[in-house]
Amino acid sequence: MIISQKQLAHFSTLKTPFYFYDITLLEKTLDSLTSEAKKYGYSLHYAFKANVNDRVLNTIRKYGMGADCVSGNEVQKAIDMGFPANEVVFAGVGKSDDEIIAALNNDIFCFNCESVQEMEVIDEIANRLNKKVNIAVRINPNVDANTHKHISTGLKENKFGVKMEEMESVVDCVKASKTLSLVGIHFHIGSQITDLTSYKNLCVRVNQIQDWFESRHVKIEVVNVGGGLGIDYYNPESNDVADFKQYFAIFNEFLQLRSGQQVHFELGRSVVAQCGSLISRVLFVKKGENTSFMILDAGMTELIRPMLYQAYHKINNLTTTAKEIDTYDVVGPICESTDTFAKALELPISKRGDIIEIKSAGAYGEVMASNYNLKTLHSAIYSDEIK
Ligand code: LLP
Repeated sequence: MIISQKQLAHFSTLKTPFYFYDITLLEKTLDSLTSEAKKYGYSLHYAFKANVNDRVLNTIRKYGMGADCVSGNEVQKAIDMGFPANEVVFAGVGKSDDEIIAALNNDIFCFNCESVQEMEVIDEIANRLNKKVNIAVRINPNVDANTHKHISTGLKENKFGVKMEEMESVVDCVKASKTLSLVGIHFHIGSQITDLTSYKNLCVRVNQIQDWFESRHVKIEVVNVGGGLGIDYYNPESNDVADFKQYFAIFNEFLQLRSGQQVHFELGRSVVAQCGSLISRVLFVKKGENTSFMILDAGMTELIRPMLYQAYHKINNLTTTAKEIDTYDVVGPICESTDTFAKALELPISKRGDIIEIKSAGAYGEVMASNYNLKTLHSAIYSDEIK
């Protein structure tokens, strides 16, 4: 996404900070995603956790994607936004009884279960409500996603999924239950995965696990391989749509499906990250020890990724055309030293009032906002509002 002069002129009339969404880029991303998935008949569930902005969700829904939810409120949001209940899956390592009841009453497609104990609780509640339930077991495949340790989920030491050693009890639990049917196996090894060999390794592991189920005569209808495809935070302008072609081709090449099996994907970041920017103003510039501090009116309350995961987000000064460069620590207004977007970043000489764009903020930006320091939660504006 490249901000036009017209968009910049509009931004100058608005209070900052705010999230800006380029709906045209979101549509371009969805065009590529859905057409590449269609080549292999793959099903897509959008991971709500990445962004639940109404305009974004409406656009995604138009492309026929289902919903991957991780809380009762996300399930409700999906239903309210018109995602058909039979295309909603409910994942998460800690589903509360109330969340389970609500999801059962909404007749969603499937619960992705993360422990035998969870399955037993769902079974008991479903019995009480006289409901039948589809479940998929989330299996911890012990495959390295080669990503930041805070967003890695498929290793043995992570809290997610059921270990293969416990799979016998999963099968026994389903056999003993009148309500549960095991329709799928589910995997998700992590997020912001750019080394696609991790997905090849996942496929190899899934193939072995499929053999295990086959040897027990357990029929699996759905293989859900999760999400996690990374995006290019370093070159967001020139590389604004993730390489869905190569991504799906890996699964097509390495996943050995049994007859009639469907493959499900639950992508979040790669769908929405690049279409969103956080737009902010420079409040003050002051000299530090070795750099200058560029103090913005946005901080970790609007985009916490740099502070939580040392994540890089490209930063542009949209206002200035100055040729001279200075070195800045770009920081927010929050009373924490960690409220820093970038350290020792070279930018054109900047001044109070300049408009700053922090790019690739469409995923895990607005959804992770907080009102720490009693900051106001900011809303969003959209490219098609600017005529
Ligand atoms: N499926 C499951 C089971 C997940 O846990 C996640 C993300 C996804 C799908 C979607 O993954 P994606 O395609 O968006 O990578 N806040 C962190 C990311 C946390 C991801 C949590 N799980 C960040 O800002 O990097």
